[in-house]
Amino acid sequence: MAEILHLRPALPSDADTLRRWDARDHVADASGDPDFNATDWDAELARTADWQDHRIAMLGARQIGMVQMIDAAREESHYWGDVADSVWAIDIWIGEPDCIGQGHGREMMRQALDLCFARPGVGEVRVDPLASNTSAHRFYDAMGFTFTGPRQFGPDHCHVYAITRYAWRKGNDNA
Ligand SMILES: CC(C)(COP(=O)(O)OP(=O)(O)OC[C@H]1O[C@@H](n2cnc3c(N)ncnc32)[C@H](O)[C@@H]1OP(=O)(O)O)[C@@H](O)C(=O)NCCC(=O)NCCS
Repeated sequence: MAEILHLRPALPSDADTLRRWDARDHVADASGDPDFNATDWDAELARTADWQDHRIAMLGARQIGMVQMIDAAREESHYWGDVADSVWAIDIWIGEPDCIGQGHGREMMRQALDLCFARPGVGEVRVDPLASNTSAHRFYDAMGFTFTGPRQFGPDHCHVYAITRYAWRKGNDNA
């Protein structure tokens, strides 16, 4: 029987796992400039804020990846700049190399979008893969996101994709 994938809240005790994943080439390559994007996981996971939701993807009992969801307007670094109150943003990565390309990312993103759009007032979710990360572009295309244009975040050249609540619900027949 296939193992069930679910997203559980990330805990301070996940910091070592996240650092281990950050050191992997396939995660580092997707993360952009390390000076701009390095995350202090101890501080990040210790913080409780209603503008963020960090989840670990569990495949059965195994930790395989991470999903970070943030309210783009209220997130404290203002990474997304001026943005409407209704916009959330997602970062997603699978840390375990043997789990890539098997549909787990699709299921992680499906659950993450359901979590975002379950929040009242969230009308759009954005992602910002590096312009060079063509696999991620195909992944977001396959998930129903729309490419909205290139954008530079600090030193990183990115492609911004977005999906509206309407498009997500329509694509999943649960409007
Ligand atoms: C991006 C990522 C989360 C996708 O998860 P995944 O489990 O590898 O992708 P899936 O197997 O669920 O693929 C879902 C769909 O995306 C597309 N896709 C994913 N990877 C692809 C690739 N390398 N080439 C072509 N299409 C791809 C496929 O169309 C697939 O649809 P299908 O199920 O109909 O074949 C994962 O590959 C990953 O963590 N990569 C490294 C970090 C990263 O790039 N994160 C994104 C940064 S923005």
